[in-house]
Amino acid sequence: MEKNVFVMDHPLIQHKLTILRDEKTGSKQFRELISEIAMLMCYESTRDLPLEEVETKTPMMTAKTKVLSGRKMAFVPILRAGLGMVDGVLNLIPAAKVGHIGMYRDPETHQPVDYYCKLPADLDSRDVFVLDPMLATGGSAIDAVTKIKEFNPKRIKFMCIIAAPEGIKAFTEAHPDVPVYCAGLDDCLNDHCYILPGLGDAGDRIFGTK
Ligand code: PRP
Ligand code: URA
Repeated sequence: MEKNVFVMDHPLIQHKLTILRDEKTGSKQFRELISEIAMLMCYESTRDLPLEEVETKTPMMTAKTKVLSGRKMAFVPILRAGLGMVDGVLNLIPAAKVGHIGMYRDPETHQPVDYYCKLPADLDSRDVFVLDPMLATGGSAIDAVTKIKEFNPKRIKFMCIIAAPEGIKAFTEAHPDVPVYCAGLDDCLNDHCYILPGLGDAGDRIFGTK
């Protein structure tokens, strides 16, 4: 396993991932599961956030307690499918700002084509979580992170739900400084660069297109 790659093997995440993959799971439940998994992954991937001590007056006494230490965050979903993860992570970190990067894969070349970018103006003072359920060839995530780096954020993490080994290799070579968090590390890509066993087309399953 590449350094800086974390597969989240929490039983709740793994259970929900199985239902997500099932071809019988419809769009409503698929959306709910993407959001729940993203929330659980956000919980796990923020373990390293720094804390500071404060004094809190409980009804009983004054105590030294802990709060997050002034870290500002931003979530950046890669459109479309990354949008499905936003509600879940905002449930845990509601003060985060949200940027958007629009990208689709050319169906012939499988290369990413970017069509939109709107990021928070103060990204240089924030930790950024890039969100996309699928890391297949890695092209979309690599280009999205390259673009985000132009804005000098404090730190970047990439969070996906399913990753292919090909995507992990390409991404970690292009951005060795960016940790990758995934719920499932799958077998390979097929001839159309879809992940096997995967879950099909994440955008189509979230939005009911196809
Ligand atoms: C999917 C997925 C990723 C990309 C992954 O998006 O959400 O963004 O493919 O593939 P890659 O690692 O080979 O770049 P898609 O291009 O299908 O666009 P959509 O979300 O708008 O459907
Ligand atoms: N995009 C998807 O939505 N699914 C895949 O398997 C690969 C890319």
